[in-house]
Amino acid sequence: MQATFRILRYNPEKDNHPHFEDYTLDVHKTMTVLDVLHRIKWDYDGTLSFRRSCAHGICGSDGVKINGKNGLACSLLLKEINLKKTVTIEPLPALPIIKDLIVDMSDFFKKYETVKPYLINTAPPPVEGERLQSNEDAEMLFESAKCILCGCCTTSCPSTWSNENYLGPAALLKAYRFVFDTRDEATDERLNIIDTPDGAWRCHTIFNCIECCPKEINITWHISQLKKKAATREL
Ligand code: SF4
Ligand code: SF4
Ligand code: FES
Repeated sequence: MQATFRILRYNPEKDNHPHFEDYTLDVHKTMTVLDVLHRIKWDYDGTLSFRRSCAHGICGSDGVKINGKNGLACSLLLKEINLKKTVTIEPLPALPIIKDLIVDMSDFFKKYETVKPYLINTAPPPVEGERLQSNEDAEMLFESAKCILCGCCTTSCPSTWSNENYLGPAALLKAYRFVFDTRDEATDERLNIIDTPDGAWRCHTIFNCIECCPKEINITWHISQLKKKAATREL
């Protein structure tokens, strides 16, 4: 069948503003949106630029906005989309466009680094094996550890749009990942970072982040646990 894809194009070397271009091509419902982008790049316009690597929902590099909703191009099958209408594909919102569907993720990763996204433990590791924890303690982290840093959540969050200093859901989720890790010794240090007006308290539980997370992580719940931990600490 034929379908039309309206893709936001922007080449800063020759365009004054981003603009849309339409591509109509033969597709099959088993194709993903990433397959469509590849087909357009290989057969119609080699200058179309987008990020991708694994093509299997693992690397997190191909986050885009498809018909108004953020998601991974490689994880959305055409059979999940109404192809009778033109399908719109745009870069992730609220980040500067480098070219076409590629955005500058520097600010996203700067905020991610702010929460110290690594285990802090000054005790020497065991001579043999790893730093162990119980199954129950590990289960506290499983969901948050599924994050692939695609940026779909943070760029869909109205609190991020209205406040450029907000850490955003992805960074807060990573803070949870280590604040609730029983092997980590920097709980207070991290809580000092997120227990601020531009940290966890900037989340107004609007739930946009959850709706677009390709890993179906309940991000808002994790942020609420951080809030509870910070509030309890103050008491
Ligand atoms: S729940 Fe919080 S983090 Fe998620 S979109 Fe809403 S304000 Fe942003
Ligand atoms: S929480 Fe979900 S949407 Fe946000 S960066 Fe991680 S995988 Fe992507
Ligand atoms: S290309 Fe790696 S997640 Fe889509």
